[in-house]
Amino acid sequence: MKVTVTTDTPIAWSQSTCAVVPVFESTAIPESALLSKEQTTALRELAQQQRIRGKANEVYFLPEPKGPSAGILVIGLGESARSNREVLRRIAGKACAVLASNRITHVVFDNTHLIDLPVDAFIEGLMLGQYDFAQYKKTPTDPPMKVDTITICTPKETLLDSLRARCERAVVMCDAAAWARDLANTPPNDMTPTALAFHAEAMAREAGCECTVLDESEMQDLGMEALLGVSRGSSEPAKLIVVEYRHPGAKKTLALVGKGLTFDTGGISIKPSANMHEMKYDMCGAAGVLGAMKAIAALKPAINVVAVVPSSENMPGSNAQVPGDIVKAYNGKTIEVHNTDAEGRLILADALAYTVDKYKPDAMVDAATLTGAVIVALGHYAAGVLSNNDDLSTGLQRAADSTGERIWPLPMWDDYAELIKGTHADLCNIGPPGEAGTIIGACFLKEFVGDVPWAHLDIAGTAWGVKNVPYLDPKHATGYGVRLFAQWVLDEARGN
Ligand code: BES
Ligand code: MG
Ligand code: ZN
Repeated sequence: MKVTVTTDTPIAWSQSTCAVVPVFESTAIPESALLSKEQTTALRELAQQQRIRGKANEVYFLPEPKGPSAGILVIGLGESARSNREVLRRIAGKACAVLASNRITHVVFDNTHLIDLPVDAFIEGLMLGQYDFAQYKKTPTDPPMKVDTITICTPKETLLDSLRARCERAVVMCDAAAWARDLANTPPNDMTPTALAFHAEAMAREAGCECTVLDESEMQDLGMEALLGVSRGSSEPAKLIVVEYRHPGAKKTLALVGKGLTFDTGGISIKPSANMHEMKYDMCGAAGVLGAMKAIAALKPAINVVAVVPSSENMPGSNAQVPGDIVKAYNGKTIEVHNTDAEGRLILADALAYTVDKYKPDAMVDAATLTGAVIVALGHYAAGVLSNNDDLSTGLQRAADSTGERIWPLPMWDDYAELIKGTHADLCNIGPPGEAGTIIGACFLKEFVGDVPWAHLDIAGTAWGVKNVPYLDPKHATGYGVRLFAQWVLDEARGN
C-alpha cells in the first residue's frame, strides 16, 4: 500500500480514484477543499433526504460516471463522542466491497476538516479487509480490485510528519499481519514445523533479525521431554524456533512465546472428526508472535525482543505419547499426561521455562490457541488474558484498546492450581472436565515461568472464525496478536 500525506489540493482525479469524506452523525456535510460546490450541494441534498446519515458503519457511494473521479464515498462515524479507532477500522472494512465493485484503486481521504481523526486506523481496516488467500486456487477469472494507493489530505503542514509516521506504522503492521495470516491459512501438509521454521528464518533474514532453530536432538540434550513427547506420534520432526531482535539503545528484553502446533488431531485422545480441519490454525499463536517480530524489526523500537516458538504436530502414531505417560520438562518438573489433546501447555511448558532461563526477559507474553473453553467464555471477540503481573496486563490492555485486538482478564487463584496436582508426578496436564478450562490451562503454564512478569493470552476464539467484524472474514485466520504485540513492544520501548 502506497500512502501519501499531503497538504496539496487539488488532486489529479481519474476514474480509478475516489474521495473519502468522513461525517459524524447529525452533522452537516462539511465544506472541503476536495469537493466542488456542486458535489457539496449534491451530498447535502442526500443528507436532507436521510440517505446519508453519518451513522457508524454506514457507507454511501455517489458515483460520478462523467468524472472527474469515480465518485465520492461518504463514511459514517456515528456520534462523535463514541467514535474511536475501531469505528474507522470497521467502516473501512465495510467500504472494501463498494470500492472493489467500483474498480477503485486509489482513495483520497479528506482529513481537512476532522483533523483529529485517526486516519491510520482507516488504512488498517482497508488493508485487513482486502486480505485474501487465493494461492491454492486456479487463477480466478475476475480477481477483486484492490486499493493500492491512499492519499491523505490534511490542512496543516505541522501535522504532516506525525500523520505520515502513524500511517507508515499502520502499513507495516498490516503487512506483517497479512504475512502471519498467510502462514496460518497455509494447509497443514505444507505448513509443517520444518516449513514454519523455514518461513521464520526467511523473515528474520529479510528483517535483519537473528534466527536459531533447535532440532529434536538439541531439545533432547536440553531436557525438553514435554515438547518431544507431543511430537512422538508424528513423522514430522519438532522444532524450537527462536527469533531475536536487538537494538543498541535497549534497556529491556521482552519475550514473546507462541504455540506452533501445525496440526492438532488430539493425538491418542483423538478429537471428533467434525471441524478437525480447523486445527491447522493451532499455530496461530506462533504466527502472531512471528508476525509481530516482522513488524517490530521494521519499526526499530529501542528494546530487545525475543520470540520463541515451540512447533510440533500432535498425531496418534504408533510411537505416540499415551495417557498415563510421565514426562520431565526443561525446569525439572514432572507431568502426568492424562489427555494427549491438552498438548499446547506441554510444548509451551518447555518453551516458557527455556525462555526464562536463557533470555531472562523483563516481561514475557505467550499466545496460544490453548482451550476451546475460552470460546465458551468470550466467544470470538476477545482473547482471555491471565497474568501474574498487573502492570503487564495494564500495558497489554492499552495496546489492545488501540489495536482493537481485545483481551479480557480471567483470574488465577491458587484454588485452581490445586486441581492440576499430579498423582504420580508433580503436575497433571488436565483438571476436572468442564471446570474453568482456560484458567486451568494458564495455571499449568504458570508453573514454568518462575517469577518473570508474564501474561498468557488464550487466542482460540480470536485467531479465526470471527464473524461480523467488517475488516475480518470468518473464512481466514485473523492474524490476531501481530498488531497487539507490536504495539505493546513500541509502548514499552517508549516507556524506557
Ligand atoms: N488446540 C486445542 C484448543 C482448541 C479447541 C482451539 C477448539 C480452538 C478450538 C487444544 O490443544 C485442545 O485440544 N485443548 C483441549 C484441552 C482439554 C483436553 C483440557 C480442549 O480445549 O478441549
Ligand atoms: Mg489439543
Ligand atoms: Zn492444540
